[in-house]
Amino acid sequence: MCNDGLITTATNLKRNSRYLHVITWGCQMNVYDSNRMMDLLRPLGYHVTEDAGIADILILNTCHIRDKATEKVFSELGRLKQIKDARAQEGQSTLIAVAGCVAQAEGEEVLRRAPFVDIVLGPQTYHRLPEMIAKMHRKNGQLIDTDFPVESKFDYLPAPEQTNGYTAFLTIQEGCDKFCSFCVVPYTRGAEESRPVNSIIAEAKQLCELGIKEITLLGQNVNAYHGEGPDGKSWNLAQLAEKLSTIPGLIRIRYTTSHPRDMNDSLIAAHRDLPTLMPFLHLPVQSGSDRVLQAMNRGHTADDYRHLIDKLRKARPDIALSSDFIVGHPGETAEDFKETMRLVNDITFAQAYSFKYSPRSGTVAAVSVRQVAESEKDARLQELQAVLKLQQETFNRQTLGREIPVLFTHKGRKSGQIAGRSPYLQAIHIDGPDNLIGFEASIKVNELLTHSLSGTLIKEQRTS
Ligand code: 5AD
Ligand code: SF4
Repeated sequence: MCNDGLITTATNLKRNSRYLHVITWGCQMNVYDSNRMMDLLRPLGYHVTEDAGIADILILNTCHIRDKATEKVFSELGRLKQIKDARAQEGQSTLIAVAGCVAQAEGEEVLRRAPFVDIVLGPQTYHRLPEMIAKMHRKNGQLIDTDFPVESKFDYLPAPEQTNGYTAFLTIQEGCDKFCSFCVVPYTRGAEESRPVNSIIAEAKQLCELGIKEITLLGQNVNAYHGEGPDGKSWNLAQLAEKLSTIPGLIRIRYTTSHPRDMNDSLIAAHRDLPTLMPFLHLPVQSGSDRVLQAMNRGHTADDYRHLIDKLRKARPDIALSSDFIVGHPGETAEDFKETMRLVNDITFAQAYSFKYSPRSGTVAAVSVRQVAESEKDARLQELQAVLKLQQETFNRQTLGREIPVLFTHKGRKSGQIAGRSPYLQAIHIDGPDNLIGFEASIKVNELLTHSLSGTLIKEQRTS
């Protein structure tokens, strides 16, 4: 077999070195996907660059969940076209690839309206990126791959080789079969699929060998996880988390995003029993009105949610709760909105995200004739966000004076500062030595700032 092509001298390598620039919009899973695309292209000689102007490949990883997603993509593509044109004048070629959920939902439209785009690929086909790039180098034209392939991309992705520090995302489950009335995810990410336990453990071990201390397990319905275990049986998220806890060096585990219907007793017990499982839970409720929850096809009531939270707080009294809310879902009345406010006041959240309902084509709610006026959505959002902001401040104030373990991950903004996160996901900085970065140490919280807390180091005890 002739493998001349594989023999590369150092000079050759330099001459051949090419650059890749990735723009990531949207959720944490898109961040994970972008990192994996970089992992795929590094072995082909592509260096990741922050400078779009020198990139041979520009990837725009898009999000379709809310807002004017498609218009935003075309406006960004206009900017990328200018870069491509400028480079072409200097005799350099540039490939533009559009990935992610807009690519999945509107791929043909992207190719039609932006003929300078070379590649369109969906969230389930990005493992084919090297092959698509090779094809593009051989011929002109445009390529689109938005299949839901039979093979799983996870079987084709290389092991991660680089990390950005001490925390990492790891996708364990993808897609959704729940079909909430407002949501595009079941259409863009496809059917629910869980990765096998062994492949997750292998990736987690690899990450920890690279120095990662905290892993956030990702999935659109992460707590519906039901991957095949090493014993051939189906494992749930609690079992997976317990197994992950045995990996040397891994001191913190988080997971997102969960659905109330899948918050089972074993996972609640894991919050009580597993010290590595952080006391933070993002559990979207969307609305506090049973009528709206039903219209949303959420499959639970507001009281079901209240009971779940009671159980969680019994298991782990200090658990910090986070949620997502949508105001102005079609048919939501002022009374319904009051029910949402009542639920928020009953539960009290440590943090939360709230959005105005935005119609997504192809979803059930988008075609409803009972759309809520924009001005009404604005007013409700303002009212809700004011209360959520107060609750967040109250939660943070409760940590004042407390001793809290912080995983330090980077330098602070001012010199001499280091920063990281509390178990409750609060951003915290202290005046402290750089050699604590990458370690967990206890601090005393002594000041509440707008977007973070500050504290003082208690003692230089490295717990990891
Ligand atoms: N309009 C507004 N918000 C939405 N979300 C999902 N789809 C829509 C939509 N069409 C919100 C939900 C979800 C979060 C990720 O985004 O609250 O939990
Ligand atoms: Fe979308 Fe989550 Fe509902 Fe699935 S469960 S349809 S991802 S909001």
